[in-house]
Amino acid sequence: MASGNRVVLITGASTGIGKATAIRLAREPGTELVLVARREQLLRELAESLPCPATHLAVDLTTEDAPQRVRAHLEAEHGGRLHLLVNNAGAAWRGSFAESGYANVHRHMQLNFDAVVRLTEALLPLLRASAPSAIVNVASTAGRVSRARTGAYSASKFALIGWTDSLYAEEKAEGVHVGMVLPGFVATEGFPAAELREKALTRWVVSKPEKVAEAIFECGPGGKAERYVPRPYALAAVARILLPRLTRRVLTGGAASNLTTSTTGSNGGSDPAPD
Ligand SMILES: NC(=O)c1ccc[n+]([C@@H]2O[C@H](COP(=O)([O-])OP(=O)(O)OC[C@H]3O[C@@H](n4cnc5c(N)ncnc54)[C@H](OP(=O)(O)O)[C@@H]3O)[C@@H](O)[C@H]2O)c1
Repeated sequence: MASGNRVVLITGASTGIGKATAIRLAREPGTELVLVARREQLLRELAESLPCPATHLAVDLTTEDAPQRVRAHLEAEHGGRLHLLVNNAGAAWRGSFAESGYANVHRHMQLNFDAVVRLTEALLPLLRASAPSAIVNVASTAGRVSRARTGAYSASKFALIGWTDSLYAEEKAEGVHVGMVLPGFVATEGFPAAELREKALTRWVVSKPEKVAEAIFECGPGGKAERYVPRPYALAAVARILLPRLTRRVLTGGAASNLTTSTTGSNGGSDPAPD
């Protein structure tokens, strides 16, 4: 592949936000993409459909050797260069703590936090050597505000946000910009938001993967530190800090049940019990 290109690696590129991000970034001149997820067929089809050079790697990011496999792929296929890492792969399995316990917390942390940290650790030397470069971590509004039955997911995203803020401060001097995107409800394979899309009252709160892809562009090459998608979701984070009693009342009252959604988890399986 051409050495003057800017190499962009996207995890979770087989569907949803990651796929939309690949399509969006492929429009930027001089981009070379690396698509990562588990389903090889989907990655291959996407790579072949893009208007820019693209390779793919099918890997489960929670496995022990995943970070080294991704790094070896970059070294073998892209000259060890990396200008943008989009840590997007993630999933949610709904369930109260009493029902789903530590096992559910652990599987969320493994994918939504540990896998991101481990991959970033393996690729940071390449990002520093390719600077100016960037990392974009896809967190969630659920990493600012937690609701019933989403505690394990929220915990993993709260952790990701805390770690990302620190990395931003540490890597600034190295020329590695660290941005963060916090989506609200976005209709995708893993997060269908069917309950919200069914009702006229709530349909408007559901956004599209393409909007998040644009925000990822802004927080990576665009140099922004963070973006909520859609922007008004930032009010939830503000309310949690400035109006905690009111926020708790809203999130545990009847209004919250209108915002309850099921997810399909990362294996295509259903929630333990749909909300
Ligand atoms: N949609 C929303 O409402 C919403 C809101 C806030 C935040 N987010 C965040 O946005 C990110 C993308 O989610 P999405 O909405 O686009 O959902 P999605 O369509 O289900 O996409 C999830 C992606 O992650 C990949 N993935 C899952 N487990 C993996 C593993 N073990 N190893 C490697 N790849 C794995 C999946 O591909 P394979 O199955 O092929 O591996 C898929 O490409 C997630 O981090 C999610 O938490 C989403």
